[in-house]
Amino acid sequence: MAQETSRDVGPVVLLGPPGAGKGTQAKRIMEHYQIPQVSTGDLLRDNVARGTELGLQAKATMAQGALVPDNLMYDMVRHRLGQPDCKRGYVLDGFPRTAAQAGWLDALLDDKLFDNSRPTRAWPIVIRLDVDYNQLLLRITGRRSCPACGRIYNVHFQPPRVDEVCDVDGSKLVTRNDDRLEVIQPRLAAYEEQTRPVADYYQRTGRLVSVNGDAPVNEITEQIFRIIEDHHA
Ligand code: AP5
Ligand code: MG
Repeated sequence: MAQETSRDVGPVVLLGPPGAGKGTQAKRIMEHYQIPQVSTGDLLRDNVARGTELGLQAKATMAQGALVPDNLMYDMVRHRLGQPDCKRGYVLDGFPRTAAQAGWLDALLDDKLFDNSRPTRAWPIVIRLDVDYNQLLLRITGRRSCPACGRIYNVHFQPPRVDEVCDVDGSKLVTRNDDRLEVIQPRLAAYEEQTRPVADYYQRTGRLVSVNGDAPVNEITEQIFRIIEDHHA
């Protein structure tokens, strides 16, 4: 499929449990449509690494696999979505994650359209990746990522050409701090309790599209591109 670099895509929201493939698919949408990936997990990890005030507040919560309080998320997300590169659209990966965040995002989009010249609201395209529980565990425990370019690998499903080394830039791959076995369960529980209601919220308003996230990566990408194309047809 040819790259799409000119049209407005608007907000695309990827929902799904830890390890569902949100980051993997967000990077492909980003490359294809030339819109940024806005991963709240990546933004928070960056704040933790830089030791910012937000990072200090979020660090312990993230290490335990719980969700960072809503009020700490809003300034960070508002600031990121206000950047010029988000004008044509963006892929939200990991946000919204509570019913309150979903309501907040709608209010933000209502008030501050990504393109003020258009008469209609840019409601997000909401895509949920559904993945079998055992598959999720393999995906999370097998995940490695490149600290330099962010590329995501999996020792079981998408191994690098050379063990533990990034194909793109040769960096040594890292395992995320919250991919430890004892943290996986609380993360999955937080998803069930706090993020499932987000899907219900979008379902009620007829905006949720579910995709079989157990399929191979390329098949899922094709389906997502089709959903985005249909949305704009
Ligand atoms: P975040 O970074 O968002 O983590 P997550 O939601 O737990 O999701 P993951 O990044 O683990 O999984 P993914 O769906 O991106 O999967 P990936 O593509 O890597 O959040 C981390 C923490 O930050 C939270 O716990 C919370 O504390 C905090 N936080 C973040 N946002 C927040 C918010 N809005 N509110 C409050 N707190 C927030 O794929 C996983 C693996 O599977 C990879 O190895 C990949 O190679 C492989 N894979 C992917 N697709 C396939 C496929 N189709 N077939 C086979 N393997 C595949
Ligand atoms: Mg991710």
